[in-house]
Amino acid sequence: MPIQKIALMGQPVLRRAAQPVSEFGDQELERLIENMKDTMREAPGVGLAAPQLFVGRRVIVFRIPADRGGEEIPETALINPEIEPLDDRISIGWEGCLSLPRLRGLVPRFKNIVYRGALADGTRVEATASGFLARVIQHEVDHLDGILYIERMHDLRLLSFDSEAADFRYEDYYESDDDA
Ligand code: NI
Repeated sequence: MPIQKIALMGQPVLRRAAQPVSEFGDQELERLIENMKDTMREAPGVGLAAPQLFVGRRVIVFRIPADRGGEEIPETALINPEIEPLDDRISIGWEGCLSLPRLRGLVPRFKNIVYRGALADGTRVEATASGFLARVIQHEVDHLDGILYIERMHDLRLLSFDSEAADFRYEDYYESDDDA
């Protein structure tokens, strides 16, 4: 499958609330999910939401490669996902987005969540996530509500180009990069 064009910030589709999926198991949904996984893998990225491929449906895909530290998570598609924080702990971590190329920012997210949704065949899933996986899922679900990670940032000084991130020192702005 050829890699799909990714919607960049400024495209209205990234700002609209995506519509829930009501038909499961059909070819259109299968094809969308395959396109999303292929595009995420090729980019490469760790997550993608359907609006980033100009499709206003509530579908996300994500994966955690082994080299990201922590547990490896294979490519997973989640439909009509919902998130609930398990507690009020927040962590600050780097995020990038295929719709905002070359940039990364330090974003506060819930540390521990439960997520619910459906697989492509309509099977319901519910699981907990923490750390980087919880961050990725929160980022992707935000896309379904027209929200980009920069709106979640408390301080836009913590936005950096990828190329400059090696020189970026959080300590220049805050005392600690622990929970905040
Ligand atoms: Ni994104």
